[in-house]
Amino acid sequence: MSDLNRIDQIVAGYQSTQSPLIYILKDVQKEFGHLSEPVLTRVAEATRIPLSEIYGVATFYSLFTTKPKGQHIVRCCNNAPCWVNGSKDVLEKIKEYLEIETGETTEDGSFTLEFTSCLGLCAVAPVMMVDEQVYGNLTPEKAVAILRDFKTKGSANA
Ligand code: FES
Repeated sequence: MSDLNRIDQIVAGYQSTQSPLIYILKDVQKEFGHLSEPVLTRVAEATRIPLSEIYGVATFYSLFTTKPKGQHIVRCCNNAPCWVNGSKDVLEKIKEYLEIETGETTEDGSFTLEFTSCLGLCAVAPVMMVDEQVYGNLTPEKAVAILRDFKTKGSANA
């Protein structure tokens, strides 16, 4: 893990930026992987912004996470077009395969399962994303096969 002193450097880099907190948290998360309590406390000290305010921002925006995430992020679309085309069954099968609920990370740290809103690919609903790769026309079996491939290869070329 990175040294907490790195936070001081990140904060110093935004000295002349107005309302820099989001930028700071983005950079800090990139550096540390997630926004743990010690990390947020150090951000509060370095910025002189109350910890409660920083915690509020870190937990409000979905781009921030206060928990460690898995090696691969699986995002299942849960908007209506995907839902009516079977995303519920796909999600249930994924949860069963990974043995986690939405918002959790597998014990071995390989996958984190999340919801995403519409990815703009409703024509090929149901849709999921694994890291930066999008997969459409999913069936429960196809989704599991994709994840199995990630697990065995450890790559994004499913
Ligand atoms: Fe799922 Fe649009 S609703 S991609």
